[in-house]
Amino acid sequence: MRTIWWNSKNRTVQMIDQRLLPQRLELPEFDDYRAVAETIRNMTIRGAPAIGAAGAYGMALAAFQSPALTRDSLLIDLEAAKSVLDAARPTAVNLSWATQRLLELAYHLVLPNTDDIRSALLAEAERLANEDVEINRRMGAFGAAVIPDGANILHHCNTGSLAAVDFGTALGVVRAAVEQGKKVHVWVDETRPRLQGARLTAWELMQDGIPMTLIADNAAGHLMRTGKVDVVLFGADRVAANGDVANKIGSYKLAVLAKENGIPCYSVVPTSTIDLNLPSGDHIPIEERDADEITHIGGVAVAPANVHVLNIAFDVTPHRYLTGIVTEEGICYPPYLNSLRQAKQAAEARIRLGQRKAGDT
Ligand code: MRU
Repeated sequence: MRTIWWNSKNRTVQMIDQRLLPQRLELPEFDDYRAVAETIRNMTIRGAPAIGAAGAYGMALAAFQSPALTRDSLLIDLEAAKSVLDAARPTAVNLSWATQRLLELAYHLVLPNTDDIRSALLAEAERLANEDVEINRRMGAFGAAVIPDGANILHHCNTGSLAAVDFGTALGVVRAAVEQGKKVHVWVDETRPRLQGARLTAWELMQDGIPMTLIADNAAGHLMRTGKVDVVLFGADRVAANGDVANKIGSYKLAVLAKENGIPCYSVVPTSTIDLNLPSGDHIPIEERDADEITHIGGVAVAPANVHVLNIAFDVTPHRYLTGIVTEEGICYPPYLNSLRQAKQAAEARIRLGQRKAGDT
């Protein structure tokens, strides 16, 4: 099942409510782009590529909601929708990348009436979502090549089907290695405070029958020092031009420990996560979230009332701690300024080709 899709019967955006997993599988529908923005903010949907797909479908929804009779007034409504969607979460650049892709298409389309533009935007959102699955498959194939048979893989947060449209980024690499017949075992970081590892990654791996063991985040260093980890894999929400990556809080610690223990460490990202406008990770906006994500677990208070809290959702891993960055265009190695730019250009050419084939530009 995909994480997010367009419900053509009801003309709504439908998604898995990830806040309820693994206890309940609910599939809410939304007919307002502002509600889609709220699902991103409250993490009904989360994970950088999934947020990008939500942004794209949100833009398509905004086009259908708009009463505009002229192209110019539709563009004004789409600009407004983009601002609302982009503001939902700050770190994952996939969100503004996707909304920008739809907005740019709307500016370039030469179509006689606004309903044709609306249909073309929906087709583009569908194309972006389908491409995401294909991209994850390509990353999986490249990444699986560096996973030894019998590997113990340490994984952080959730980077699986739920974090993307389907298959996943770093977990996609795990899936691809398994599909190639490799026997692997995954150490699943629980990933405090929101427990994406315990709730979502464990659920996905168990459904696929991939051997795994859930660990407290604090156990990772011990496992690395005692030779029980062969490779560390995580995703990213934004990669700067120099190869610094922002990912779920705790990733930096894992990468430093991996280097200290001589263990390869890869970040697995679609090129839509690469932000060549930022020279280094110091420029990546880092999200801070509500205190109750730390003070409460499953609605139960685990800290004194009114305690002072700092809830930083992401950290930056400087590129020197990474062995490589896996993308759908291949594995990027230092110097990242060159390899990331080349990967991004190759991916953009592929997108333009898809749009030309569909006759949109
Ligand atoms: O706060 P989240 O759950 O959206 O954070 C997600 C992650 O950090 C993932 O590792 C990241 O988006 C890359 S995965 C596809």
